[in-house]
Amino acid sequence: MFVPSILKFELYFLECTFIILDNERYATSADELSSIVGDTNLFFQEEPGAAEIEVMIAEEWGRRRGLATEALELMIKFGNIHIHSLILRAFCSIHHDYLTRVLLSGKEELGKLKFVAKIKQDNIPSIHIFSKLGFIQVSESQVFNEFTFELNV
Ligand SMILES: CC(C)(COP(=O)(O)OP(=O)(O)OC[C@H]1O[C@@H](n2cnc3c(N)ncnc32)[C@H](O)[C@@H]1OP(=O)(O)O)[C@@H](O)C(=O)NCCC(=O)NCCS
Repeated sequence: MFVPSILKFELYFLECTFIILDNERYATSADELSSIVGDTNLFFQEEPGAAEIEVMIAEEWGRRRGLATEALELMIKFGNIHIHSLILRAFCSIHHDYLTRVLLSGKEELGKLKFVAKIKQDNIPSIHIFSKLGFIQVSESQVFNEFTFELNV
């Protein structure tokens, strides 16, 4: 089984990115650049506890090996543990009302997390992957030709 390695974490103000490495390539080459297959991202939204999630396995040789599924599972686990502190750090300095809203929403609201995925309507593999992970389709945009899927945890 090929397990994606999480090489690098970077928190910009509104985005959290993990680069996905191919473990087997990295184990034999110790070369990070040639082992990169894609990335997975969280884009924080102003709604407390909500983040858009996406994945890209850019290299053809990396596809159909379960890497996207595993990377998303890891990102959801990571988000479950860290999302609130990351969002607070990310937003508080630029959105002065954000902390107030999080504080006002109370402990119960703060405990709720929502992952949002925007998927093109013809992207059958992604619809399959996100559905398998428990995401539910909540809306459809004719303008952008995409579905919105959500996972509440
Ligand atoms: C869609 C994408 C993320 C899939 O990555 P991947 O690592 O190949 O996916 P996985 O190997 O984890 O596949 C998971 C499931 O999807 C299925 N699948 C993957 N690619 C498929 C394809 N092209 N056609 C049909 N089914 C496909 C697999 O059979 C597997 O199903 P199973 O678990 O029931 O056996 C990748 O092709 C990609 O990056 N595409 C472009 C970017 C994109 O669409 N991102 C998603 C938007 S957030």
